[in-house]
Amino acid sequence: MKRDIGAVIGKYIDEHTDEVSPLLQELLKETEEKTGRAWWSIGKVEGKFLQLLIRISGTKNAVEVGTFTGYSSLMIAEALPDDGTLTTCETNEEFASIALSYFKKSPHGKKIRLELRPAIETLGELSSESMDFVFVDADKTSYSQYFDEALRILRQGGLIFVDNVFWRKKVLTNKITNENARAIAAFNEKIKRDDRVEKVMLDIRDGIYLIRKK
Ligand SMILES: C[S@@+](CC[C@H](N)C(=O)[O-])C[C@H]1O[C@@H](n2cnc3c(N)ncnc32)[C@H](O)[C@@H]1O
Repeated sequence: MKRDIGAVIGKYIDEHTDEVSPLLQELLKETEEKTGRAWWSIGKVEGKFLQLLIRISGTKNAVEVGTFTGYSSLMIAEALPDDGTLTTCETNEEFASIALSYFKKSPHGKKIRLELRPAIETLGELSSESMDFVFVDADKTSYSQYFDEALRILRQGGLIFVDNVFWRKKVLTNKITNENARAIAAFNEKIKRDDRVEKVMLDIRDGIYLIRKK
């Protein structure tokens, strides 16, 4: 029988990565029951990687573009210091209300401020060089704009963590027909050419671009 090596590696990685907190497990279960879209959440391995980066980088103030039901928000908040802050952006009221109910249940929820409006408005109101970390995981056609704002609000040495840069592997095809994939492919080329940042693209889940402001 032929083995799917990607699935085998995925299982092995999962087995050798820390578990998430019981509250995050409960949130993922409720997310699936209420939205049927738990797969939108970053999941355990990417989330644990995100937490390590928050800790290693000494991040105190972070921004998240794309809250959904709050799985990645709580991942970030758990890794922030007691006086850390997370501003998280969402436009969908139903998703936001699930997120808020879980922020209330977590001892780390007090670090989180949810802005229920288009992310670009919230980002535009944040001061220049005030942030340590920006996580981008919302509407794909706005990624380029989010990057421009992230570069403005980040301090020197700050990090941008961009999710879905393979867009379900559609950016890898010769003739891209999907609108999101076209936007992501153009975004990836823009980052590749930008000398103001150091970057590495990683084959984790749907692809991550990890970017550091020089
Ligand atoms: C893939 S989901 C985020 C998943 C989340 N980061 C997690 O891992 O649990 C993307 C979210 O971005 C939200 N979104 C889409 N357009 C937005 C915008 N213009 N401003 C803020 N949020 C937006 C969607 O409603 C959706 O909940």
